[in-house]
Amino acid sequence: MNFQPLSSILVKAFSLFPSTSLCCAVLLVCNASCTTNQNRKKKTATTEPTPTAAVTVLPTSTGSKNSYSHVSVNGPYLALTFDDGPHPQNTPRLLDILKARNAKATFYVVGTNAKRYPDILRRIIAEGHEIGNHSTTHPSLSKLSDEGVRRELQICHDAVLSATGVAPRTMRPPYGAITTAQKAWIRQEFGYPSILWSVDPLDWKRPGSSVVSARLVAGANAGGILLSHDIHAGTIDAIPAVLDQLIAKGYQFVTVTQLLAMEQAQ
Ligand code: NI
Repeated sequence: MNFQPLSSILVKAFSLFPSTSLCCAVLLVCNASCTTNQNRKKKTATTEPTPTAAVTVLPTSTGSKNSYSHVSVNGPYLALTFDDGPHPQNTPRLLDILKARNAKATFYVVGTNAKRYPDILRRIIAEGHEIGNHSTTHPSLSKLSDEGVRRELQICHDAVLSATGVAPRTMRPPYGAITTAQKAWIRQEFGYPSILWSVDPLDWKRPGSSVVSARLVAGANAGGILLSHDIHAGTIDAIPAVLDQLIAKGYQFVTVTQLLAMEQAQ
């Protein structure tokens, strides 16, 4: 047994049982690796080092508030978020860029794309990123009936869950269009906080990748939630410079639920 599947299982276990504490996760890794080693000893009588790196998986939370555009944290942490995908070329290219820098991100997928590209969803989860719900057909939720909103969220939720085995735990309203009442009942029914953003580079207007990079870097501060779209090639071109410049400033990139787990009491 090599280490990667164990790590993936742990990530999955964490997402399925969000209340699991980091201590339990460490125990889980320890138990799994000890059992594996014992079994292997019986079979081959060789000694190999016990894998330990899986304990770097961070705790997660859906926070205490109905919505967030920024999280008060005590450290240089940022959440990169990518909306409207997955896209068959751009999302895999983005995943390569993130992997090369060990940066984690959150993908707010649209249900219609989620159904078309389940393999990309599985890769997102396998590489330690997170998937959030961005509705099924990308309408303005604030103009829909409760039943309409419920349907939009449920179909996307089910598509992600059936492709990956991991349910989304946060949502982002298309266009940021959502009412206070909707935020409250969505939290009640789905358990989702509504996740907005602290920096919008307006990448969908295609201002050029250097402009997108500069806007994201200039807007970043601790606890920030950076918005962009993985359906645009120019946005993907902007991301290496964003990551490299912000990592050089000491920032670390975590998922939205990892950022929420770091929230400081006000
Ligand atoms: Ni969108």
